[in-house]
This record gives sequence, C-alpha cells and structure tokens, in this order.
Amino acid sequence: MARLYNGLFRPKRITVPGFDLAGEIEAAGRNVRRFRPGDRVFAWTGFGFGAYAEYKCMPETGKPMDGMIELMPAGLAFDEAAAVPSGGITALSFIRKANVRAGQKVMIYGASDSVGTYAVQLARHFGAEVTGVCGTANLDMVKSLGADKVIDYTKEDFPGNGETYDLVFDAVGKTSRSRWKKSLKKGGPYISVMSSAGLLPGTSLS
Ligand SMILES: NC(=O)c1ccc[n+]([C@@H]2O[C@H](COP(=O)([O-])OP(=O)(O)OC[C@H]3O[C@@H](n4cnc5c(N)ncnc54)[C@H](OP(=O)(O)O)[C@@H]3O)[C@@H](O)[C@H]2O)c1
Repeated sequence: MARLYNGLFRPKRITVPGFDLAGEIEAAGRNVRRFRPGDRVFAWTGFGFGAYAEYKCMPETGKPMDGMIELMPAGLAFDEAAAVPSGGITALSFIRKANVRAGQKVMIYGASDSVGTYAVQLARHFGAEVTGVCGTANLDMVKSLGADKVIDYTKEDFPGNGETYDLVFDAVGKTSRSRWKKSLKKGGPYISVMSSAGLLPGTSLS
C-alpha cells in the first residue's frame, strides 16, 4: 500500500493516495438523498485522499475541500469521468474568478496538461478568443480543444510577440505578472494556478 505524507504542521499519514475517481455507488446512508446504489458517479475526494482505493466513503455534500461528488454525465465512460475532477475544478474556479466572457482575448499559458486543457475549453465555452501556449508535441491537441491560436514555447520568443490579452491565466505556474506587462491590456488580470485563490465557494462538478 502506498504511503504519502501531507500536513501543514506535522506529517499526516495517508494510506491510500488519489484525488479523482469514478465508479458506482455501492451503498448509501439512511439520510442520503442524492444517490442510490448503482448510480454512476465521479468525485474529487478533497484532502481526505483515497481515490485509488477499491471503495471510498464520502459525504454527499459538504465544503468543497471535503470533496465533491456528482452523478456522471450520460455517455461518459468511467476513465473519462475520472480524468475531470481536479484539473476541471481548478480550471473552472480560476476561469470563473476571472469572469471570462465573450469578446475577450484570453491567454492560457501551459495549455496542454490537466488544468490547461480544461482552461482552454472553458474559456472557449464562455465565448473568449483563446491562445494556448504548450510544447511542440501538443500543438495540434490544444488546437483540437478549441484554441484559436497556439504558441510553441520552445520556438517562439514569448511573451514578446506583440499580442495583447484581456486575461492571462498561467495554468502551470512558470511565469509572473511582471513578465506579462507588455502583453496584458490595461487593467487586465494575470492569474496563476500557483496563487492562493483556492477553490471558489460554490465550485462543483455539476
Ligand atoms: N493536475 C491537477 O489536477 C491540478 C490541480 C490543482 C493544481 N494543480 C497545479 O497546477 C499546475 C499545473 O498542473 P498540470 O497537472 O495541469 O500540469 P503540469 O504537468 O504541471 O504542467 C505541464 C504544462 O505546462 C507546460 N509547460 C511545461 N514547461 C513549460 C514552459 N517552460 N513554458 C510554458 N509551458 C510549459 C506543458 O506543456 P507541454 O507538455 O506541451 O510541453 C503542459 O501544458 C501544477 O502546479 C499543479 O500542482 C494541478
């Protein structure tokens, strides 16, 4: 059994790691209203971890940090649904916080991994024109997610290409606001996945 250590002031032993899961409800407590045995669900465990176990016990609702569980959208396979929670919730939280909307030009820096791929899709969903930055091998994939433009960070002198954006979301945490001075429109926000913004109250998988 894998053992991880986590904790602010002292190590806390976590016997089963993993944040993201999908599966079937095996049993539901007497007071549970939203789920029944046999329901197909996906979840973010919160800092209780344990997603890689065979069975996981979770509250049906609670504070975001205690985990989130929802019915799986129809048509998704378990492995597809299990790929959504951490990256999807993180991206949604930041994209909502930045109030991304139609007509904006949005830069997603680090567009090809978990947080970035969801950020690209969500920014497009909210109507923005999206530019994604990633490595050579992932240019086509990021484009296929809906990015209007893609930039290869291994080839282009970036962010010095003359474009300006309403919002820069650094989804990999490799830059700082000062690096974007010339590329951000006046008053445009820079947000980094490394910031302490955390999960927005009300962010959920549904
Ligand atoms: N994964 C999650 O669910 C999750 C949840 C919450 C927070 N976070 C945090 O969010 C951050 C991102 O996590 P992640 O798992 O999405 O991705 P990751 O694996 O940390 O980052 C990889 C991404 O950054 C790009 N990248 C790497 N070097 C770069 C460079 N020098 N310039 C520009 N882009 C570069 C990669 O592009 P290529 O691969 O195309 O080269 C890829 O898009 C991490 O700090 C993580 O701790 C992650």
